[in-house]
Amino acid sequence: MRGHRAMNPRTVAAGALLLAAGAASAQQALPPGPGRDLVAAKCYACHTFEARVGNGYTAEGWNTVMRMMTNHGLALTQAEIAQITPYLVQNFPEKNKAPAVIVPGPLNVEMTLFRTGITPGSRPHDPLATRDGALWYTGQMTNTLGRVDPKTGQVREFPLKSPHSGPHGLTEDRQGNIWYTGNAGALVGKLDPRTGDVTEYKMPGGKGDPHTVLMGRDGAVWFTAQNANQVGRLDPKTGEIKLVSMPTPGARPYGMAWDPRGNLFIVEFGTNGVAMVTPETMAVREFKLPDPGSRPRRIAITPDNKVWYTDYSRGMLGRLDPGTGEVREWPSPSGAKSAPYGISAIGDVIWYSESEAAPNTVVRFDPSTEKFQSWAIPGGGNIVRNTSVTTDGNFVLANSLVNAVTLVKIPK
Ligand code: HEC
Repeated sequence: MRGHRAMNPRTVAAGALLLAAGAASAQQALPPGPGRDLVAAKCYACHTFEARVGNGYTAEGWNTVMRMMTNHGLALTQAEIAQITPYLVQNFPEKNKAPAVIVPGPLNVEMTLFRTGITPGSRPHDPLATRDGALWYTGQMTNTLGRVDPKTGQVREFPLKSPHSGPHGLTEDRQGNIWYTGNAGALVGKLDPRTGDVTEYKMPGGKGDPHTVLMGRDGAVWFTAQNANQVGRLDPKTGEIKLVSMPTPGARPYGMAWDPRGNLFIVEFGTNGVAMVTPETMAVREFKLPDPGSRPRRIAITPDNKVWYTDYSRGMLGRLDPGTGEVREWPSPSGAKSAPYGISAIGDVIWYSESEAAPNTVVRFDPSTEKFQSWAIPGGGNIVRNTSVTTDGNFVLANSLVNAVTLVKIPK
């Protein structure tokens, strides 16, 4: 999720009242026109409008945004939607996207895009390639987990339990259950795909925003909580949840990866930090990246134990050697504003996507030659928030605003 935690929609009415004063001053910042009062009244309950408008959207993008918000529980009449949407399209058009810079190279990849949401505006947030060859995704705004069969393109969506729980991250356990984080519902959940049964594990005290999730070698389910500033461990045998805070306040722990030695690495999106967690003790050690402006968002680790990160704010690909603390960085092909985001290591090679490049790209970086190659994602691809790798070494993307999952076949 971008920015802060979404409120549970059931508390929206109270939130709107509390925010009435804030909305009044924000309203002055909204340009005049029909629709302004509705935006001021409806778009500040879960997040402020300004915190999400970013670089604006195309007309199609705004239609998708409105679908996503109503899917997530914002109650609007057709007449209200018909007033708000053109106001947004007119006043907040897409701007300042980094034109994609495509770097030619020797490899030919083949990209296949699978439409996901049975309901439009599902906002597929994270993808997951499972051992059985399926491609899963979280339907963040439709409160579903989806499974795509890449052989047939057939999609099955599994409804979740608590309404509007905001499914976000995904991981698979040894039994083939799919675990997910309910980012808006303060929970971690387990889906048994054979039966469709969902088990929910609430955060202690009912508070927190579970974000990225990974199975541990210890059979436990590990997750970050961005705004709660915590890393968590859930024991599936007992349901017990342990939480540990990051040493740096407001560090916003985000993407996670295991190193070959069994340590958990976490990038800190609220600061220029990378954290290492020892699973047995949950002790946290932080590494500082050299540029104070770095905001590492996602992470991948190669077999040589090097930690790779996408520096979202500076448009860089970075590499930390946790043994020496040494950091090296390479400018991403589409430049400082390209917002590198989802990243995976496939063997020794790094694959990621530039999320503010128009169109979004797939980027390959070979550490042995330090050479980039990149490709435009068909249909624009945006926004790739996380990536996954199939058992046979292909790259998988979730395309959150275009309701798709993309399989990138890499020649072997
Ligand atoms: C019921 C809670 C809720 C309300 C009310 C709400 N939003 Fe959202 N909004 C969310 C959530 C959840 C997200 C996705 C996670 C995040 O960014 O916090 C989001 C994200 C967004 C995004 C970023 C979308 C993306 O994927 O790039 C935009 C733009 C946005 N909202 C606009 C609006 C507008 C316009 C309104 C009023 C019509 C509105 N929101 C009202 C919950 C809400």
